[in-house]
Amino acid sequence: MAVDVLLGLQWGDEGKGKIVDYLADQYQLVCRFQGGPNAGHTLWIDGKKTVLHTIPSGIFHNHMINVIGNGVVIDPVTLIREIDALVAQGCDVLNRLYIAKKAHLILPTHRLLDMASEASKGADKIGSTLRGIGPCYMDKTGRNGLRVGDALSNTFYQKYISLRDKHLRLLKQYPEIDHDLNADEEKWFEAIERMRTLDLIDAEYFLYEHLQKGHNMLAEGAQGVMLDIDFGTYPFVTSSNTISSGVSSGLGIPPTAIRKVIGVSKAYCTRVGSGPFPSELTGEEGERLRQAGNEFGSTTGRPRRCGWIDLPQLRYAAMITGTTDIALTKLDVMNAFESISVANEYETEFGLKTKKLPFDMLEGIKDVVLNQHPGWMKDIVADTYDDLPEEVKTYISYLEKELSLPITYISTGPGREELIVR
Ligand code: GDP
Ligand code: IMO
Ligand code: MG
Repeated sequence: MAVDVLLGLQWGDEGKGKIVDYLADQYQLVCRFQGGPNAGHTLWIDGKKTVLHTIPSGIFHNHMINVIGNGVVIDPVTLIREIDALVAQGCDVLNRLYIAKKAHLILPTHRLLDMASEASKGADKIGSTLRGIGPCYMDKTGRNGLRVGDALSNTFYQKYISLRDKHLRLLKQYPEIDHDLNADEEKWFEAIERMRTLDLIDAEYFLYEHLQKGHNMLAEGAQGVMLDIDFGTYPFVTSSNTISSGVSSGLGIPPTAIRKVIGVSKAYCTRVGSGPFPSELTGEEGERLRQAGNEFGSTTGRPRRCGWIDLPQLRYAAMITGTTDIALTKLDVMNAFESISVANEYETEFGLKTKKLPFDMLEGIKDVVLNQHPGWMKDIVADTYDDLPEEVKTYISYLEKELSLPITYISTGPGREELIVR
């Protein structure tokens, strides 16, 4: 029995979906523990692209049990759409998917509140995916939320109306937004009807029993450490704990059950939405990374902000999460870069240098100190670590030394097979 965790070490979109799909063979279960349809995890299998938002990335494996844990917030409409699209591809979702009754439901009015709240913030907006995530988690912690299990009760409709009406009163505080709530509600209740027929479980017992049988589980994180509600670049974060501790609260698993924590990082860095990004490249080099890496959001299609890998940020993320192994992705994106930079330290107000993240990263960091590395200037064609170009190996060794962690997985393309395991 073992629980391993896989999570993003940066601001999301590190390539978590691809690595989960690759590792799935080593586990009996893959479980999402937080986040919701703000996530977009891309898998390329046999030349076909799938983007998963709520369903765990182990869904394409025959033997695999996929669990959506209590820490996740579920939009039934997105979930059912995702299931239908997978079934249409021939994926046996219905026999592989289990949903925690304690997971919270995103109501149509949660999305409206998200939109209204963001619109009212003007230039200070978070850059939310507008999927209703923040308002749903607010109702969860405010003890007003509706959960998946509530959909099985006779009083569900009254509970829904009561919460919806509360939201409608709240919405009156904001300038009006264009919407058709009746149409949204109709789709929502149709999706709830379908959801009732799925395997809705007491996930904490379900998972405990699997672990007792000696089964291995991979907990799949969404977003990344820098979007964590407590340790991220607050307030420009999401509304859940994206770090390893989220696994305990989001699945009902004791922290002592966790064995490895695999932290995924790009060989550079990206962020979607607003907020601090010390090593961001706003000019031509950033655009080059965006084009080479096809850095456009998997959920919203927005262009991702791009920059160099940031070592103080990664050390912090590894420290907070207890990362034991790193998966470094998208190395191939830098194939045509003559020179690659790494942010080694931050420069603060009085020209002082630090390797620690200040409380306020916008105010506290004036500049980054970069360290240059020669690029490899060729396509990476390698099945083993030894086959990699020397410059790649030097870059990887440098990162390992600076982070004091092994880079165990090296991803050189979006496909399942484009991965070197050491
Ligand atoms: P996630 O949210 O962490 O699962 O990541 P996303 O799916 O949002 O974004 C990662 C993107 O990079 C997807 O389009 C992947 O197909 C792609 N990708 C993953 N690993 C690699 C890689 O090593 N090289 C390249 N070129 N693309 C990759
Ligand atoms: P995956 O799992 C990248 C960002 C949004 C916004 C902030 C808050 O694919 O890595 P929210 O919708 O949660 O209120 O948005 O967080 N964000 C992500 N950025 N990848 C994600 O998920 C994200 N999920 C949320 O862009 O800045
Ligand atoms: Mg993503």
